Parts: sequence; structure tokens; C-alpha cells
Amino acid sequence: MADAPLSDVIVLFGGTGDLAQRMLFPSLYFLDADGFLAPEFRIVATARADMARDAFVEQVRETIQKRAEGGLDKAAWARFSARLDYVGADATTAAGVEAIKAAMGAFKAPMFFLAISPSLFGRVCKALGGSGLAVPDSRIVLEKPIGRDLHSSKAINAQVAEVFSEDRVFRIDHYLGKETVQNLIALRFANTFFEPLWNNLTIDHVQITVAETEGVGDRWPYYDEYGALRDMLQNHMLQLLCFVAMEPPADMEPDSVRNEKVKVLRSLRPFTRADVQANSVRGQYTPGVVGGQQVAGYEAERGQKSDTETFVALRADIDNWRWAGVPFFLRTGKRLPERRTQIAIQFKGVPHSIFGGAAKADLVANQLIIDLQPDEDIELVLMNKAPGISQDGMRLQSLPLSLSLLKAYSGPNARRRIAYERLILDVIHGNSTLFVRRDEVEQAWTWVDGVAAAWAESGMTPKPYAAGSWGPAGAFALIERSERAWHD
Ligand code: BG6
Repeated sequence: MADAPLSDVIVLFGGTGDLAQRMLFPSLYFLDADGFLAPEFRIVATARADMARDAFVEQVRETIQKRAEGGLDKAAWARFSARLDYVGADATTAAGVEAIKAAMGAFKAPMFFLAISPSLFGRVCKALGGSGLAVPDSRIVLEKPIGRDLHSSKAINAQVAEVFSEDRVFRIDHYLGKETVQNLIALRFANTFFEPLWNNLTIDHVQITVAETEGVGDRWPYYDEYGALRDMLQNHMLQLLCFVAMEPPADMEPDSVRNEKVKVLRSLRPFTRADVQANSVRGQYTPGVVGGQQVAGYEAERGQKSDTETFVALRADIDNWRWAGVPFFLRTGKRLPERRTQIAIQFKGVPHSIFGGAAKADLVANQLIIDLQPDEDIELVLMNKAPGISQDGMRLQSLPLSLSLLKAYSGPNARRRIAYERLILDVIHGNSTLFVRRDEVEQAWTWVDGVAAAWAESGMTPKPYAAGSWGPAGAFALIERSERAWHD
């Protein structure tokens, strides 16, 4: 949306929901406190619940208070709360949307943020279109999941497209708002020395881990239908893979970047029934101990037996010139021993070692470790001479060269931002570089549907793993089969 006017109002559907309360209102507040929202910008929250504006504002104040380190800034809160309004309405009906429209006042470029079930996307879009709210400069923001498979995803995208042209559709993957994911773009394309090494001549393999200590808990009605493959891998993890694997885009324009990501997704080798057992693992947590606390198994939370996986590990191969022969190992799970989101680029070893004696065994291959969570850090692990002298010749030691974002930056830009802050600001400005295009989401589903179909055809059900462990034993076998190991 080049030259689009700034959004002047956000309408937040699902305003009383978990995402809005935990992430979206705090993000809007922090943007406001840092001076990113224009004076006339308004926020209209809507949900079905009938609630007075004052009660709603108080609810928002309490949730933001919890997140704001050092408490709420009085002036910032006064400014922010004055922007807020609440409408209790059924947004799938013409009458509901008319009530919302009345609360919006005058506007030029409204932004509609659908933090609601995707099954409602089509009907809400239709109602917005019917009431004349989908004006040429409007934008629609869609939360994941966009469907449960390619078929349902296409159906949702088609319903949305009847009202909003693709350049006005912003599909959010909040991982793209994380600082380190954007830093990956800077690391790869703002430095000269990585790019010549970024291929199958120098890189042995890549690992992407998204480990969570949390369980599914009372989110099971949603989760049980999706599982780890559809909840995490189809979107967040494939997006990380794309940023690692894509070719250098011509520039940072939305389509330049997204064209490159789609090419990666199209190059993913489809899974077959024959290789799915060797190249993927499904798991489900049973009772165990996480962080010193005894926790329940998934089936106890769910209240009945379930075939949904809470852990998935798989080997993905990208069939193109750059990555031929370089496996990407992906794993994600709930109730793992630690919270860790990490990309590990494992380089090949030196072609010939000149080091004899004990130093021979010291030699390990270089790694580039990109930590997204809990801390943001980038480390280049290099070999170094161990200090001192020894009778047995030189000894070697691997040492990390760290680009700790926490240590490197201080001052107003050092606060760790909520990923949604960056993304909401981008929607206000009409910049969709960090949003997922329709063909991209559908291509990701095509590949993920292939994994799910291969699981179904070969009757692969989730293997149990104790909460607090790193998943079923098969996850280790998966990577060890190629004489590699998960990065600790
Ligand atoms: C969401 C998933 O998209 O991402 C959740 O639905 C998951 O299941 C969450 O817990 C993880 O996000 P983050 O930013 O905490 O890593």
C-alpha cells in the first residue's frame, strides 16, 4: 500500500479475548507512550459481551498495569484511555456493524483487527463490506490460524478477498515482529561475510527449536483440533526457516521479500508415507515435572484420550541449489524442560586438521546461534587457542563471539518490545513486508498437509513423553540417524 494514508482508527474484534488483553492493548499503550500514535488515532474494541465503556477501560488498565514495568505512566494512560471505546455487538450482523460504525466517528483509513475465531472471518468481512466500512484505504488484520488445512485456508482467503483486495490484507505471524527475526535479515544482508558462506558448501545443517515449558491447559478446545504441527510449525517455524533459507531479495519491499519466501516454501521436499517414520516424530506429554512443579499430562487437561500431538520434530529438505544436502531439523513442543526459541546454523568442519595430539579432539565446527527467547542474542562460535602452554602442543577451545542485544544496547530503544508493537505500527503505515501473503500461507499449508497425510496413511500416532523432558526418544534418533545431535 505505497503512499497509503496512516490508519486513523483501529477496530479490535475479540476485544475482551485473551490475545487482545494480553498482547494487543499493551502493545497499543506502549506505542502511544513512545509517541507513535497520532493525536487523532482512536481505538474501538468490540466483542459480544455487553459491557459499559468505563468497566471495559478499567479492565484494560488492569491488564496493562501488569505488563508495564515501573507502573503505568499517568499522562500516557490518560492519553491512551481517552482514545478507547467499547461496543458490545455481534460483528457478523449488519446491526452489530452499524453500532461499531457509529462508535468509529469520522475516519479515512480504518484498520480492522480480527482477534477472533477464523470461522468468523468471512462473515465479519461480509458485514464490514455491506456497511460500507471497507473503504479503499481500509486494512484488515487476520490472526492465525488461517484455516486448518489448504482447503479451509483457501475458503477463508476467498471470503476475505470478496471484500478486501490482497494489498489490504495483513496476515499476522507475530514471530515476524520479534526483534531477532528482523535482526536475521540485518545479519544476512547488511554484512558481507555471511552470504558467501550461506550455502551447502559451508553449512552442514540448520536446527530450529521452539521449546515451551507451558502446557496447553484450558486452551485445549482450540489446540486439540490443531496440534503442534498446525499451531506452531505451519506458521512460526516455517517463517523462521524461510528467513534463514531465502535468497537475497532485491529490496525490502513487501513483494520482494515475500516472493523469496514463497520460493523456499515451494522447494520444500514433500513428505511421503515411505519416509515419514524416519523423518518425523509426534509426541504428547504425560504427567511430569517442569520447573520443579508436578504437572498434569495433556489427556488429563483434555479430559479424554486424544491423538493430538503436543510435540513435533522433523527433518525438512529444501530442494534447490543453495540448500541441496543441508537438512533443516525443526522441533517444537509444550511442556519441555526450558523455554527456548533458537536457530542454530551448524557449519562444516575444517577440510583438514593441521592440529595433532590432544588438540585434534578439541576441534569442533563453527556455529552461529541465534537466540530469540528467553534472551535475544547472536553468538558466533569460533575456535580459539586455549591460553597458556602445554607440553602436548597447542590446545584449542571453542569460544562464542556474542552480539548480546541486551548488553549492546541501552537507552529508550532497549526495552524489549512486544512483537505486536512493530506489526501494529506497520499496519498503521500500510507496510506489509512482515506479513504473510495469501500464496505464502497456502503454500505452507500444502507442505504441512503432506506431513499430516503421511502421518494418517502410515497410522503414526503421538508417542508419549514425560512433561519436563525433551520429547520422545524418537526425536533424538531422528537427528542421530544422520550422525548429528541437537544443540544444547
Ligand atoms: C502461538 C501459539 O501462536 O504462539 C501458542 O498458538 C504458542 O500455542 C505461542 O504458545 C508462542 O509464542 P511465543 O511468542 O510465546 O513464543
